[in-house]
Amino acid sequence: MNGQRCDVTMTVNGETVAETVDARKTLVDFLRDDLVLTGSHVGCEHGVCGACTVRVDGVIVRGCLMLAAQCDGAKVETIEGVSDAGEIADLQRAFEQRNALQCGFCTPGMLLTAQELLKDTLRTNGNMPSRATIREQISGNYCRCTGYHAIVDAIEAVAQARAGGKP
Ligand code: FES
Ligand code: FES
Repeated sequence: MNGQRCDVTMTVNGETVAETVDARKTLVDFLRDDLVLTGSHVGCEHGVCGACTVRVDGVIVRGCLMLAAQCDGAKVETIEGVSDAGEIADLQRAFEQRNALQCGFCTPGMLLTAQELLKDTLRTNGNMPSRATIREQISGNYCRCTGYHAIVDAIEAVAQARAGGKP
């Protein structure tokens, strides 16, 4: 730490990033402004809407509630990295096929949040999450366009497909 600035080193989507940042800069602003990773969106800026969702050390977090300085030494993944890795290709396809997005503002956060549920649920017990569980999982991600029904449909379809059932 050096006054109001601090040096941070982290991996972002698999690449090492070393920067000097304003100590008060949020992670999502750092990703968007400094690294031009603009897939993470900024809505409420106080932890309510989920538009800024990213992964830090494998767990989804609100990018507006974390400081970039807190991520020193961390592994950060954004929608760009997760998408490029092909990890959520089926979810992205299902969202498109079922019209689970309109303006798309909420979609990156929604996809990362859905993926967290699906990988954890299917890995730990192999069971399908119920629609109620899916709704609970995405309850912290606001969508002003779709009414959520199609989003739940899409996540449920991918859960079925990953569990070996019919999409
Ligand atoms: S911008 Fe972070 S939760 Fe809304
Ligand atoms: S698709 Fe517009 S906010 Fe969700």
